[in-house]
Amino acid sequence: MTTHSRAFDTWMRNDFVEINNQLEDIYWQQEDRANVEGVGDALKQQLVDEGNALIKHLVAEGNTDEGFDHAFDLLGNVGLFMAACRRHEITEPSRETHSPLLDASTLAMHIGASIGVTPRFATAHLCTHNSAVNGLYKRFTDLEDEKLFVDYNTKGILAYKRAADALLRLQPLGISHPIAADLLAVVEQALKDVMQSNNYLFQNLDTDRFFYCVRPYYKPYRVGKEVYRGANAGDFAGINVIDMLLGLCQANETSYSQMLVDKFLYMMPEDQQVLRHCMRLPSFMDEFLQVGEEHHTSSWFQENLRAFLKVCKLHGQTAIQHHNQLVEKYIRIPNQDLGTSHQEKVTASGPPLPVLLAQLEKLRDRRAARPRDDIFTRYNDITRLTELLD
Ligand code: HEM
Repeated sequence: MTTHSRAFDTWMRNDFVEINNQLEDIYWQQEDRANVEGVGDALKQQLVDEGNALIKHLVAEGNTDEGFDHAFDLLGNVGLFMAACRRHEITEPSRETHSPLLDASTLAMHIGASIGVTPRFATAHLCTHNSAVNGLYKRFTDLEDEKLFVDYNTKGILAYKRAADALLRLQPLGISHPIAADLLAVVEQALKDVMQSNNYLFQNLDTDRFFYCVRPYYKPYRVGKEVYRGANAGDFAGINVIDMLLGLCQANETSYSQMLVDKFLYMMPEDQQVLRHCMRLPSFMDEFLQVGEEHHTSSWFQENLRAFLKVCKLHGQTAIQHHNQLVEKYIRIPNQDLGTSHQEKVTASGPPLPVLLAQLEKLRDRRAARPRDDIFTRYNDITRLTELLD
């Protein structure tokens, strides 16, 4: 790390968090907790001045070629700073045509383009690639609920990755391989882990703290002239690897492939590669369907199909849990209770909430293979395969 990037990192881990803590305290005391306008102006100014001063040195320093990890980490720091400015409405994408944070934008675009990722902070910066110093990883605030949210996003992502990894290992072996059942058992356990950690989050995360003090840091913001959508826990390849290798979702279906295209640059380059590879592979569901007539009486077919269907069901259950519990409790209901003036701001630069919810509902129903008239799901194929079980 250069002296300037170390100074910036130290500021991010200390003073930056302290300023956000103080601003959150002020907002939280107000009758209208969603209001950020005209409050804490001195703190907001301090945030911009200190952040800009540190970033200016880094822009001047240019590409120091210290490798991918350092560049990605630095992009995360600039991104967290820009996201905090957005949260405190120091910047607001619908008000501006260019980000007023010129140096931060320059640095973020330089790094993002040079390492092949979007020039904003992504989930990996906070979850899977956020190194802890003496037990503390980078964060916006010291709020307990922010830590809970990030910890359980990380747990969920890592568990999905374990499931995806086992499926990718099964792919070259094939569904009749004697080790297939072992790998499907790993997938089963990993998806149960996702459910357990999602459930913990659902039971313990405070709705108001999340909605008013954590979620606003994840809003879309401008870098240079473009608005980049907010980070979400789905920005890793594993979830789609599971979707496509199981066969519950297909890369040749418009709305699903649109989502894949849109998320590529929000993922780490290694995840981008995995996803590209996976988009070219056949699914296990299609393999079972192809050989079902001929082999359904074989013991391997019965054992592995049973394990496969169990895993499909679990994947659907994690999606139902995400949508019907987490999105419902922490986004849809509190959003409904928000005043109209704030609602406009919520949807100003992302898709309107009903559109977002409808997209997530489609994903849920594809993963759960539910019967639907308007989109293709594997309901009939899952029914057909279930009939082949003894
Ligand atoms: C309080 C908890 C959570 C809430 C309120 C929540 C909400 C949302 C919302 C609203 C989206 C849509 C995208 C967007 O807003 O830009 C989304 C996407 C996503 N979230 Fe969550 N989420 C939560 C936790 C988690 C956790 C723990 C996981 C596990 C890894 C997860 C996995 C995903 C995935 C994979 C997507 C991408 C869309 C998809 O493929 O389903 N989320 N989430």
